[in-house]
Amino acid sequence: MTTTAPSRQVSLAEKVYQRCLNIDCAATYDVGEVRTKCGACGDLLDVVYDWSRLPVPKRLSDMEAMWARRHEPLRFSGVWRFHELLPFAPPERVITVGEGQTLLQQADFVSRYVGLRPGQLYLQYEGMNPSGSFKDNGMCAAFTHAHMVGAKRAACASTGNTSASLAMYCAVTQLMRAIIFIGSGKISYGKLSQALEYGALTVQIAGDFDDAMARVQEISKALGIYLVNSVNPFRLEGQKTVMFRVLEALRWEVPDWIVVPGGNLGNSSAFGKAFLELKELGLISKVPRLAVINAAGADTLDVLYNQRNLRWNRGRPRMETACWYYDELDRSKTKADTIASAIEINRPVNLKKCLRALDVCDGVVRKVSDQEILDAKAQVGAGGIGCEPASAASVAGAKLLRQQGVIGYEDRVVCILTGHQLKDPTATVAYHTTDQDKFEEVLGSRGVTRASYANRAIAVPNDVEAIIKAIQLYS
Ligand code: F0G
Repeated sequence: MTTTAPSRQVSLAEKVYQRCLNIDCAATYDVGEVRTKCGACGDLLDVVYDWSRLPVPKRLSDMEAMWARRHEPLRFSGVWRFHELLPFAPPERVITVGEGQTLLQQADFVSRYVGLRPGQLYLQYEGMNPSGSFKDNGMCAAFTHAHMVGAKRAACASTGNTSASLAMYCAVTQLMRAIIFIGSGKISYGKLSQALEYGALTVQIAGDFDDAMARVQEISKALGIYLVNSVNPFRLEGQKTVMFRVLEALRWEVPDWIVVPGGNLGNSSAFGKAFLELKELGLISKVPRLAVINAAGADTLDVLYNQRNLRWNRGRPRMETACWYYDELDRSKTKADTIASAIEINRPVNLKKCLRALDVCDGVVRKVSDQEILDAKAQVGAGGIGCEPASAASVAGAKLLRQQGVIGYEDRVVCILTGHQLKDPTATVAYHTTDQDKFEEVLGSRGVTRASYANRAIAVPNDVEAIIKAIQLYS
């Protein structure tokens, strides 16, 4: 690989540090410090690199040479293969379980549904990660940092996927004990089963994800437990690589659009940082547009961005707009409510970083109903591989933006499918099996009234002739 040599031998701490996102504070911290917010002003932290002292690739295509080194654990990982673009840990300290072996699929069946010219829609299947969601991209990075600083316990609040991922890293490596905080009744069985089986200490609190998120921050601070939620800046470093792999699969051509579901807004924030850095390094000449899609029942970003005009504002967003909104939610006792349980979040912790990403990528924000999410999910599944409900928000969002003429028929669009189809079988089975007249009863509180793409099982008597007749009738 062609690299620019560092000018002199300098320590890691001189090349990589943590910096407060607040440009009026900009306090810096050593890469080895364990923090999830700035000690001076409480804002989020970024991992910052002094690229002039680091061996960065001259061209993105140089990264292809890493394929030839797949026998090395570092290069086998679809995250660490791009180590030069997230070099916060020495290569010998990096932890991997083989995450990031994911797939970008040209999805013509789904492109018809979205309304794009065949060949223009791509689905990035992050459900193919070892724990079944995109979370492994960020978790291997945070876990690596946790191990670097000698952590023995790691905690997170989760709607299910973060906890499954953390529990998996703890179980595979046996390096740490996983402590996970979940809300009551809000986690799909697929995800809960992973955390339990992988042996995580599972704390189910009487509240929702937003409550669990608040508690885990207090408790991990009080007990000195390493926190791996995406307020941890190292998580986002790993999640940048989803974009590197998308570019790699497109032979380093930048698509017109990246469409991603928005929950805690870690992914969108990470994607924005990836493009910001690639641009800064001169490795791309254009930045894609970013569309972040909320579920209508958890639409904080949509409200703040589209109704209250909250913007990055050159690094000085008026975050009090968000505080006022959260007060309103509290006063009206409004809780997030969507079938897409993974993104059932009303207080996204990465809001400010997401505003930066939307600024960098000339972004848009939309919300989609549970009906649109489930229909899109059924279409993604009918096109093969499939995804969980939250992931389908990206496809539903792309369809909406196409209808609105924001995305053009000829545009090249990548929708991120964040989680595996088997993560939430309850939602899938309910969609395909519930009788039309029972729909309101089963899913109606969320406004889902029909299953336009249901593939119902056919009931037949236990009789060969009757079965043959039914198959001939329906096939
Ligand atoms: N899709 C899936 C499948 C998720 O699990 C999540 C988040 C998101 C989308 C939203 O991503 O937070 O980066 O905007 N799940 C978290 C969890 C909250 O606890 O597993 P985001």
